[in-house]
Amino acid sequence: MELKNDLILRAARGEKTERTPVWLMRQAGRILPEYRAVRSSVSGFIELAQTPELAAEVTIQPVDLLGVDAAIIFSDILVVPEAMGLPYKMVEKKGPWFPETVKSAADLKKLSVADVESDLGYVLEAIKITKKELNGRVPLIGFAGAPWTIFCYMIEGHGSKTFSNARKILYTDPQMAQQLLQMITDTTITYLKAQIAAGADMVQVFDSWAGILPDDHYETFALSYIRQICDAITEVPITVFAKGAYGARKAIGQLNCNTVGLDWNMDIQESRQLIGANKTLQGNLDPAVLYADFATVEAKTKTMLDTFGPDRHIANLGHGVYPDIDPEKVKCFIETVKSYSPGLRK
Ligand code: CP3
Repeated sequence: MELKNDLILRAARGEKTERTPVWLMRQAGRILPEYRAVRSSVSGFIELAQTPELAAEVTIQPVDLLGVDAAIIFSDILVVPEAMGLPYKMVEKKGPWFPETVKSAADLKKLSVADVESDLGYVLEAIKITKKELNGRVPLIGFAGAPWTIFCYMIEGHGSKTFSNARKILYTDPQMAQQLLQMITDTTITYLKAQIAAGADMVQVFDSWAGILPDDHYETFALSYIRQICDAITEVPITVFAKGAYGARKAIGQLNCNTVGLDWNMDIQESRQLIGANKTLQGNLDPAVLYADFATVEAKTKTMLDTFGPDRHIANLGHGVYPDIDPEKVKCFIETVKSYSPGLRK
């Protein structure tokens, strides 16, 4: 299938683009009333994610309604622990909750490296349907959580400000931590490869809880596993988004990845220096800017574009779009990127 718009793939590979491509993390779901309508037709998030036709429908909504340059498959990072033997629930207004968690090395015996085709076949099916329905309009992004972030949920069982139980294990039973992280990594590599085989045009690894680790732990318990993933994924461009990993930016720049995601607190020029000229950077408007008036959204987006410059940039927010943002503000962000991209003025 020939892609009609492959801006994001070309930007990821470091090729010149007529303008900066743009998409939003967490664009599928959360903000669109059209998403909530589909979601309320089923029992909740999990049923929606496990129904490939509906998952495909909400994946494509932001392409039609917002005009983004890529779709991201509607799923969640937590399907990986579930496929390894740790099911989760999505509690309304509270977020994910795991009835069972990993407490000791003995619990690892109940888990296994997932059989992706059978345990996550519904995601692969959703990717195939989405690709067909997109009909080459824009590329489709596949994704997975980074092993450290998945480990956090498997140990803690729910969201947390500190993930102190997960961090405790790194000091009390580092061997068990390494074992579990390796199982997650092995599952993730097979899972991303299966997403690519099903049709994903690029993939992103989300390390949402990178920022809570000190630098030495980040290298040992997080980056070393991301490195394995980047070395294994050679088929399509891969993006690493490690939120809050300030001290690791230089090392992330040396990974076998094409794109590095920046959060909104990462200084753009400093990050470019640390990461080097050979990576594409993605980001990084403060998601809270979209609460401001239209003129401010436009002005802040223009400043961001000017700071990144015309090449090797994929415009995005510095983290996922917040659920209570007005979709019109999101459109303003997207339209500003499309009309103001530095590449247009070269
Ligand atoms: O556009 C997309 O990115 C859609 C696919 C997607 C979802 N979750 C759907 C979802 C992606 C890429 C994710 C990633 C994800 N999930 C991350 C990493 C990115 C980040 O934001 O840091 C994390 C940490 C999770 C875990 C998770 N899933 C939480 C904490 C929650 C509850 C809070 C919330 O609303 O995001 C979820 C639920 C979830 N995942 C929803 C969606 C659309 C909301 C469920 C609903 O419809 O109520």
